[in-house]
Amino acid sequence: MPQVHVLGPDELRAAHVLFAASIHRDTVTDADWDAASRSYSPGRTVGVADGGALIGTATSFPTRTAVPGGAALDTSAVTRVGVRADRTRRGVLSAMMRAQLDEAVGRGEPLASLRASEARIYGRFGYGVASRGRHVSVNGRGAGWRREPAGEVRLVLGADIEPTLTALHDALALRRPGGITRREAWWRWQVAQPVEKHEHLIAAVHTGPDGDDGFALAVPLSEGTFAHRALKVNDLHAADDDATAALWAFLTGIDLVDRVDGWLRPVDEPLELLLADPRDCSVTGGEDETWLRLVDVPVALAARTWGDGPPVLVGVHDRLLPANDGVYRIGGGTAERADSPPELECDVDALAMAYLGDRAPSLLAATGWWRVHDATAPARADALFATDRLPWCGTYF
Ligand SMILES: CC(C)(COP(=O)(O)OP(=O)(O)OC[C@H]1O[C@@H](n2cnc3c(N)ncnc32)[C@H](O)[C@@H]1OP(=O)(O)O)[C@@H](O)C(=O)NCCC(=O)NCCS
Repeated sequence: MPQVHVLGPDELRAAHVLFAASIHRDTVTDADWDAASRSYSPGRTVGVADGGALIGTATSFPTRTAVPGGAALDTSAVTRVGVRADRTRRGVLSAMMRAQLDEAVGRGEPLASLRASEARIYGRFGYGVASRGRHVSVNGRGAGWRREPAGEVRLVLGADIEPTLTALHDALALRRPGGITRREAWWRWQVAQPVEKHEHLIAAVHTGPDGDDGFALAVPLSEGTFAHRALKVNDLHAADDDATAALWAFLTGIDLVDRVDGWLRPVDEPLELLLADPRDCSVTGGEDETWLRLVDVPVALAARTWGDGPPVLVGVHDRLLPANDGVYRIGGGTAERADSPPELECDVDALAMAYLGDRAPSLLAATGWWRVHDATAPARADALFATDRLPWCGTYF
């Protein structure tokens, strides 16, 4: 088993370069490293060395994830995972994943979360797809909206962008299951550095009846001509559909803009219902967003709220963290360990797929992710796991 160690500050640049190479990105310049080094949370980067050189690395940063009902749980956000190309498939990632999970247990973080480069990597470590997004492209010129957009949209400029959007994001993102708090480094990359480099950012804020209730951050795509440009929405969070509609209407209505693309937008963002012609919105793709790992199943289950209806007994299996193994009785607003045979059974990755409300237990049972011992149990579980809104995060890391 490869030996994993926690990297000291003097090893972080090697880790950064190793990760960049693993995803086919350039190495860092001194100036870039100065900024990137500040994005590493102290003591949260692990690595594996071989022959005096680092051959594998993974890091994490602390965040909080909103779960159904509004609680926000401490989460280890795993990122920058890479193994040197000549040392893959020898268990390096497996050893680092185990070490990271042990650390999350030690720190008392009930959840871990990541974004996956490939969908076949992380299920074996207990991560399941807990939220998804879709890529959309909305016509600019000519896109009409069924209702006159409500409220006001204003642009925020330069040094005002970061503080304005930071405050709004934190207030809006945790309203939806799957939303996370952002670290300062995220804003530095998305806003502060582009502003310093004089790049063109379109930062728009919507004001509704109760004040500022949504924002969008868009950038021009390099394609197009002087009079035919396309924008890409990097960020758009809104309190409700009115604010969402007003922000999209604003972006698509900007002069010289033919098209506005959105990437990993919420699956239930109702653009087609808001547009006068639903075909002004094309869905160009879709992908998994949050890969969630329930590190402490009893704490995670107790933290979310549950729908009404008769209880169900769910058996959970966790190969890497066997303390989570057991049967949980969910119902009456709570989830507790039970000393009864399970009516449904699943591995911890498949539990994560239902936990935030993304997939109904009956669908997971029908597709073989959950096993059924009582034919009436999937419908009961559906009622209990159901949420008002689909989960979505909106922060890629
Ligand atoms: C993905 C990556 C980290 C895996 O590291 P690794 O050290 O090769 O992984 P392991 O040897 O521990 O593999 C563990 C298991 O996962 C499987 N696996 C690992 N990567 C896989 C992949 N990309 N596709 C399918 N299976 C994969 C292995 O075959 C192995 O299966 P087994 O237990 O049945 O033998 C490494 O290939 C890499 O750096 N890839 C490029 C960068 C990247 O995608 N990073 C992830 C960013 S989210």
